[in-house]
Amino acid sequence: MTAQTAKPLCVWITGASSGIGAALSTELAARGFVVAATARNEKALAELADTAANIHAFAGDITDRSGMAALVDTIERDLGPIDMAVLNAGIYLPTNFPEFDADLFDRSFAVNLGGTVNCLAPLVPLMSGRGRGRIAIVSSVAGYGGLPTSAAYGATKAALFNLGESLAMDLAAHGVKVSMIAPGFVRTPATDVNTFPMPFIISADDAARRIANGLEKGQAHIAFPKRFSYLLRLINLLPRGLYTRLVGGATSRN
Ligand SMILES: NC(=O)c1ccc[n+]([C@@H]2O[C@H](COP(=O)([O-])OP(=O)(O)OC[C@H]3O[C@@H](n4cnc5c(N)ncnc54)[C@H](OP(=O)(O)O)[C@@H]3O)[C@@H](O)[C@H]2O)c1
Repeated sequence: MTAQTAKPLCVWITGASSGIGAALSTELAARGFVVAATARNEKALAELADTAANIHAFAGDITDRSGMAALVDTIERDLGPIDMAVLNAGIYLPTNFPEFDADLFDRSFAVNLGGTVNCLAPLVPLMSGRGRGRIAIVSSVAGYGGLPTSAAYGATKAALFNLGESLAMDLAAHGVKVSMIAPGFVRTPATDVNTFPMPFIISADDAARRIANGLEKGQAHIAFPKRFSYLLRLINLLPRGLYTRLVGGATSRN
C-alpha cells in the first residue's frame, strides 16, 4: 500500500504523541500519506501536526470505546475514508514480583488490549463494507514468549498476536488485510526507564522507516531488528521448560 497514487491515502495512527507513533507519523507523511494522529496529549499532537501540512491531530483516549467510534467518524468526515490504521498506542508497565500489583495488569490489559479492540470496533465494519483497507497492530517481540518482568505487558502483546492473526484470517474474504508489527527494543520514552541492557536497540526513526517499508510492501509480519527477532523466534522453538530456564538464567540479575 503506497500513497504515491492520484489521491493520497489516509492513515490513522494511534499513540502518535511520542516514540514510534510520532516517528511513524512523520515518516508516512513524508511518503505522501495523509496522517490522522491520535493520542491523549493534545499539546504534543499539535506540535507534531505543525511539522507537516498532511499530519492532522485527532486527540482521544483509546480506552474510551464510544470516544473511539466518534473519533473514527470525525476523521472520515474531515479526511475521507481511512485506508490504513496503525494501532500502536500502548503502555509498558514492568512487574516487580513478589509484590503483586493486580492494578498494573488491569491497566495494561485496558490500554494495550481493550484499547486496540476499541479502535477495531468502528474500523472493521467500515473497511469490510468498503472491501478494502489495512489494519496494522503493534505488538512486540515480547509477545513471542514469556520474558522476565513482562507478565502483564507480554501477555497483552501475545494476545494481540493471536487477535491479529485470527482477524487476518476472518477479514481476508472481506478485502481487509492485517499486518502484525513486532519491534525489538526501540529508544523511546517507554524504554528510557529501563535500567537493564537492551540488545540491538534502534532509534524511533529507524523503527518508523522499517515499519513504513513493511507496510508499503504489504507484509503480514513486520519484525525488527531481524537478528533479535529471529533469535527470539528460534529460542521459542525450544521445549518450554528449557526455554524458561534458559531465558530466565540469561537475564537473571542476581
Ligand atoms: N519502545 C520499544 O522498545 C517497543 C518495543 C516493542 C513494542 N513497542 C510498542 O510500540 C508502541 C509504541 O511504544 P513507544 O515505545 O513508542 O512508547 P511511547 O513513546 O511511550 O508511546 C506510547 C504512545 O501511546 C499513547 N497512549 C498511551 N496510552 C494511551 C491511551 N489510553 N489512549 C491513547 N493513546 C495512548 C501515548 O500517548 P499519550 O500518553 O499522549 O496518550 C504515546 O503516544 C507500544 O504499543 C509499545 O508496546 C515498543
